[in-house]
Amino acid sequence: MCGIVGYVGRKNCTDILIDALSKLEYRGYDSAGIAVFEKGSISVEKAQGKLSNLCSKMENGHKPVGKVGIGHTRWATHGEPSDINSHPHGNKRVTIVHNGIIENYKQIKEFLEEQGYSFVSQTDTETLAKLLDYYYDGDPVETIAKTLAEVEGSYALGIMFRDFPDRIFAARKDSPLIIGVGKDENFIASDVPAILKYTRDYYLLEQDEIAVIRENDIQICDLHKKPIRKELQTATWDVDAAEKGGYEHFMLKEINEQPVAIRTTIAPRIADGMPSLEECGLTAEELMRFRRIFIVACGTAMHAGMVGKYIIERLARVEVTVDIASEFRYRNPILTAEDLVILISQSGETADTKAALMLARENGAKTLSVVNVKGSSIARESDYVIYTHAGPEISVASTKAYTVQLSVMYLLAFELAYANGKITEEECRQHIASLQQIPELVTETLECEKDCQMVASKLMNAESLLYIGRGLDYALSMEGSLKLKEISYIHSESYAAGELKHGTISLVTDAMPVIAVATQMDLYDKTVSNIKEVKARGANVVLICKKSAEVDPEAADYVIRIPDVEDLMTPILAAVPLQLIAYYTSVLKGCDVDKPRNLAKSVTVE
Ligand code: M6R
Repeated sequence: MCGIVGYVGRKNCTDILIDALSKLEYRGYDSAGIAVFEKGSISVEKAQGKLSNLCSKMENGHKPVGKVGIGHTRWATHGEPSDINSHPHGNKRVTIVHNGIIENYKQIKEFLEEQGYSFVSQTDTETLAKLLDYYYDGDPVETIAKTLAEVEGSYALGIMFRDFPDRIFAARKDSPLIIGVGKDENFIASDVPAILKYTRDYYLLEQDEIAVIRENDIQICDLHKKPIRKELQTATWDVDAAEKGGYEHFMLKEINEQPVAIRTTIAPRIADGMPSLEECGLTAEELMRFRRIFIVACGTAMHAGMVGKYIIERLARVEVTVDIASEFRYRNPILTAEDLVILISQSGETADTKAALMLARENGAKTLSVVNVKGSSIARESDYVIYTHAGPEISVASTKAYTVQLSVMYLLAFELAYANGKITEEECRQHIASLQQIPELVTETLECEKDCQMVASKLMNAESLLYIGRGLDYALSMEGSLKLKEISYIHSESYAAGELKHGTISLVTDAMPVIAVATQMDLYDKTVSNIKEVKARGANVVLICKKSAEVDPEAADYVIRIPDVEDLMTPILAAVPLQLIAYYTSVLKGCDVDKPRNLAKSVTVE
């Protein structure tokens, strides 16, 4: 978590740093700060809370003027959110911004205290800044290398040395960092959207690399000062993609971008009406050889994996186990070379998912990642990668990343089922044709927005909610429930509808609304029976079902309908009303939709 940026060029950098940070606020918003070379010294401004607090503070106080600087937006790990714990940290000689965690910071701190250093913050970062100062010998790269050799943990660093006012320094290990390459100006950033407005060209800084960035020069070396040459990358993301484009919130914009995102994700993976995943290096023959599949991910991405399990097992008859990454990495899973471990991650930087990937590799399993951010750590460390093409997802609550992940799950299921001989070519073509219709049907589903807004107005005062469903509807309801609690702060649980009467139904009263997803027609009557059971206990029920489903007026208080489509494909469509209900509940409650409390988009700590 945390976002870092840096600028070296000919323009006044304060506004550029602030603008770049505003694109990274999704990584944390507990505080923000900048450091700028101003009249021969390093001028630091920082403030607790969102970036807007820092901006107001500078407007009413001091706004540094200079052409070289670094910036930070924080998701607190060590030390509460406060002005004093905000980055940048350091002293008049060395100032840094940091994304990651210094695990041995206590030992470093003790050592430095013995050397006469004192500390003002509770952060791990301040110890690193002061260790740099301790080792500083007039050669910044030497100093950085010597310091990092003492440090355990993860970091992406932006560093300024007072004696070198024409440059910034960067280093990384286990936290992402790119170097943006402009004309007479260069940048550093945790993620591409921060620099898109200024340049599309960038270098990916790799593990244990150090960079020296000047206006017209970028030098990269390893920890032994051995120079490294790199291939320039070009971002394909649209500049507007990182802006709100007229929508009130990124989340609403991203919900509406789903038809395009899905189309862009599936189109290159369909050739002549059949699935074609060979671009990721995984042939149908190779896919067939796996005895078992593990899907490992966190949060929304794990929920996409749950849907993946249902459809892969149903169609391809291959055993699929879905694991939460933070559990998988510590449960000593039984893995062999005959297993395929699929890692799903929007950011490609989630610490637990990355650790699960490394564990899978160590145990000889093959790894396939489904990732949205090009060049991210998980993508680079996997044997095979399928990139989703959702474009940048800024809202902390994941929406379009989820539905594109689902699209890839379908492609995988079709490819595997066909390769295994579980479906015929004709059936496979039919499935692909259904998937190709999905973008259009998502557009049609978006028409339920007003209904969702109305439903949200009925739910907004609830203290707790239940989401229920069976089969694929149950897998989807997990995501609906997460979306609601994440952004509206209303407690909710997703439950397999048939399991309710084994305990949970005792919670149901007229104060607990129930959102029932019933799109699986073979299970429809059974789900309706479960709905009637909760209705009989006073619950207000919102039913999400297909357009043509017959609805008993006794069964639901509000009905939201999705277009008719074959049962297998409903999760992508039914996800839309669930996202919109969560969105409008959050809006009506006056919550910060795009930046829910205590959260960050990219969870790079375990
Ligand atoms: O970047 P990732 O997909 O690996 O992130 C995983 C989760 O942190 C993420 O999906 C999270 O649950 C979402 N914010 C939920 O909306």
